[in-house]
Amino acid sequence: MSTDLKRAAAERAASLVTEGMRLGLGTGSTATHFVSAVARLVQGGMTLVGVPTSEATRAQAEREGIPLTTLDETPELDLTVDGADEIDDGLRLIKGGGGAHLREKIVASASRRMIVIADGSKHVTHLGRFPLPVEVVPFGLEVTRRSILGVLRDLGLPEELRLREAGGEPFVTDGGHLILDAHLGRIGDPEALGVALNGVPGVVEHGLFLGLASGAVLATEGGLVELGQV
Ligand code: A5P
Repeated sequence: MSTDLKRAAAERAASLVTEGMRLGLGTGSTATHFVSAVARLVQGGMTLVGVPTSEATRAQAEREGIPLTTLDETPELDLTVDGADEIDDGLRLIKGGGGAHLREKIVASASRRMIVIADGSKHVTHLGRFPLPVEVVPFGLEVTRRSILGVLRDLGLPEELRLREAGGEPFVTDGGHLILDAHLGRIGDPEALGVALNGVPGVVEHGLFLGLASGAVLATEGGLVELGQV
């Protein structure tokens, strides 16, 4: 997707931002345009405060002059805008392609509204073509891996888990955890999978966002398409 289309989706989401809002600031190449749009609102005199969903977004927001807070100081947010790796018609998402889904999910769950901004190609009939990120603690990795494989087996899903790497080393999240990417192809029952993964000791968070997004702005070559309540 062109940068222009990502920016267009981000600008549409930024048009939802009003004076005094407490914002969740998403992570990724689409959300970065939203952060810049919010920074321009601040430069224009709007009072607002943001909670970043990653250290990368924190750095950008600080660089561009957005006042930041924490969820401990501000546990209720008005609006979170974030990208996604997959989105279906029910506004169910796979996130975590950038490894930020733990903080992204906490921030989204603290928000009255979560709006997704994404490339139209992320819009899918069934979730699962994009590998599902499962964030795990390093301790007992092999035990946790086997438990997750058991969950996949029980649900009739492919038992394919890969430890995410970056530069030949295990990828480490902002929280100091590892990521196992589950290559599932098609997730028949995302809710059942989400519940089962939450029950595995050692799993910190998975990338299924179910019932969190209230709307989506999808950027396509034909223009912006909105899903749900934007
Ligand atoms: C970060 O971990 C992810 O959840 C991102 O929000 C997601 O990968 C979308 O990123 P892009 O906007 O770069 O596609």
